[in-house]
Amino acid sequence: MSYENIQLEVLDTALAVITINRPKKLNALNKATIEELHDAFKQADAHTKVKTILLTGSGEKAFVAGADISEFADFSVEAGAELAARGQHILFDFIENLGTPVIAAINGFALGGGLELAMACHFRVASVTAKMGLPEVSLGLIPGYGGTQRLANLVGKGLAMEMILTARMIDAQKALTHGLVNYVVPQEALLGLCKTLAAQIAKNSTQAMAAAIKAVNANFKHSVDGYAVEINAFGNCFGTADFKEGTTAFLEKRKAKFSGK
Ligand code: COA
Repeated sequence: MSYENIQLEVLDTALAVITINRPKKLNALNKATIEELHDAFKQADAHTKVKTILLTGSGEKAFVAGADISEFADFSVEAGAELAARGQHILFDFIENLGTPVIAAINGFALGGGLELAMACHFRVASVTAKMGLPEVSLGLIPGYGGTQRLANLVGKGLAMEMILTARMIDAQKALTHGLVNYVVPQEALLGLCKTLAAQIAKNSTQAMAAAIKAVNANFKHSVDGYAVEINAFGNCFGTADFKEGTTAFLEKRKAKFSGK
């Protein structure tokens, strides 16, 4: 599948790499890029060999510098609401609820929609050069792709409020201290670390990981009882071939060979 604004590459190592490829615009998310990302995530998730999806930005300067400001400068109230609703539905919520683990490799600026995109991924790894922020109020806007919710969930309400209200960026080290990213590494080590993490993920049961993602996400959904989702997902695991294989392999003192998707 070829795209205009992104690249999807499926590696032999059960890893799909999705790269946003608009370096001259610091990988800003225009409408076409959002649609293409939706399609690429769908393809990668459905690919029988893919066990982890890695999302990154092209070039050394930016992961994604935000939603493409040139596209919405003249929007009405209705068009603005529609932009946020569609984006959340087809991309941000879509990624968060995928059964395939998604890692964001933050290789530079992750601002506005860019940080929101990284936060929709299941976890984040950053290069030392990364800078993160939600600067929307400096444009007379607020974050519209889930940023007000996910940032507070990840770093706590106090720091989220400060970042959103000051519109200031934080560096990778501060993001690490507050749990926004899990690792900070030199730029040249970023993809290597993500590949190591993906190799560890690749050993595990696809079905069990999808169930775990669903159960963890349930804690952050209002009106959903996360404990009940966990009980149900836990019970369902007992009916899977991967559970039979995983427990049998353990008892036979060998490595499990899971069936895949
Ligand atoms: N939307 C559209 N275009 C963007 C963009 C965005 N969010 N972010 C960067 N660009 C474009 C710039 O307009 C510029 O295009 P041009 O060369 O055609 O003029 C190009 O990307 C390079 O950006 P530039 O501002 O020249 O780089 P810089 O190194 O001076 O500054 C940033 C980098 C990230 C600090 C700056 O680009 C910025 O503040 N971007 C907007 C961030 C933002 O507010 N995001 C939230 C949007 S809701």
